[in-house]
Amino acid sequence: MNEADPSLAQAVEAVVDEAPFPLVSAAFLQAFGRPPEALSSAPGRVNLLGEHTDYNDGFVLPVAIPQRTRVALGQASGPLTRVQAQVLGTTAHFSHDQPPTEPFARYVYGCLRLAEEAGLALPPLDICIASDVPLGVGLSSSAALEVAVLRALRARFATGWDDVQIARMAQRAEIEHAGVRCGILDQMASSLADPFQALFLDTRSLERRLVPLPSGAAILVLDSGISRSLATSGYNERRAECEAAAQALGVAALRDVDDPARAAALPAPLDRRARHVITENARVLQAAAGVDAETFGALMNASHASLRGDYEVSVPPLDWLVARLQREPGVFGARLTGAGFGGACVALCAADRLAAIAEPVLADYAAEGEQGRQLVP
Ligand code: GLA
Repeated sequence: MNEADPSLAQAVEAVVDEAPFPLVSAAFLQAFGRPPEALSSAPGRVNLLGEHTDYNDGFVLPVAIPQRTRVALGQASGPLTRVQAQVLGTTAHFSHDQPPTEPFARYVYGCLRLAEEAGLALPPLDICIASDVPLGVGLSSSAALEVAVLRALRARFATGWDDVQIARMAQRAEIEHAGVRCGILDQMASSLADPFQALFLDTRSLERRLVPLPSGAAILVLDSGISRSLATSGYNERRAECEAAAQALGVAALRDVDDPARAAALPAPLDRRARHVITENARVLQAAAGVDAETFGALMNASHASLRGDYEVSVPPLDWLVARLQREPGVFGARLTGAGFGGACVALCAADRLAAIAEPVLADYAAEGEQGRQLVP
């Protein structure tokens, strides 16, 4: 579908990237004593519909969030690569043969290794990272870091990688070096999504198009404050269950089944897992075909119910917050977003009510003894 002209995309990226860079440029200068040689950035994402469908070759519908991860990079003078993370106040040191132990640096290390596999002869680098993407809440902070690092390499070494190549490399960096057998949703979203329209993506073919949000609707994202302790182990387990379900149904991936009744033949819990994926794909297709805000919201509510009951990736405080959002006037629908097991939820709201929604909802959540916060807008 719309394959953007890469040179134009890079020119736009350069303009977008230049303006908000004083912080990361100055941090680089301060940390390493000279100006950076390349700057880049990439956004986090919020997924509106299509959860746990990407590793089943299915459909997703993310939108970019305003928060971005920014990277400044230059050639190092010593033998080690040094990565400074502003938000964490830490610097990691590593070499090709000695991977870092710090989790944030493993994403960077993975990207550098993938860049080398793609044919780039990399010297040791100095890298500075500054980010306002909320960490570990399901808004793709890791994909934003991976895509920003790969974009900085593209800019510094004129590699000519297109945005899809960058997304694919970023996904492999995460699978091979961070131990999460993720799909390609987050990296495609960080590399290609738009903050004003949703990106409808077929994760099998990578065909995609931008879909306008329903007229009069706007997006609200709240963090439940519940940390996603089971995210990696639970995630990999769900993925294995889906593979077992696909095999039992005799299909390459659950994407190839569109009748939820077929899931009933499977043993528990594979029947529920498969039913979630099959019904979730149908919800994305319906939303992407163009629906009004009420219908879109109802699809989000159904998605949450399916993630809670069939896929079992929600937790009680998140269910409470989502249910409270769903009752608030001006909310068309709400659901958990990202892998689940805690983290953030997303609501589709009436644009003219948006400013009034978070406060009463978060106050009631606080009265339940939980501490949430508004992340977007
Ligand atoms: C995480 C993964 C994605 C996707 C979502 C769930 O964000 O990185 O690939 O599977 O969970 O939809």
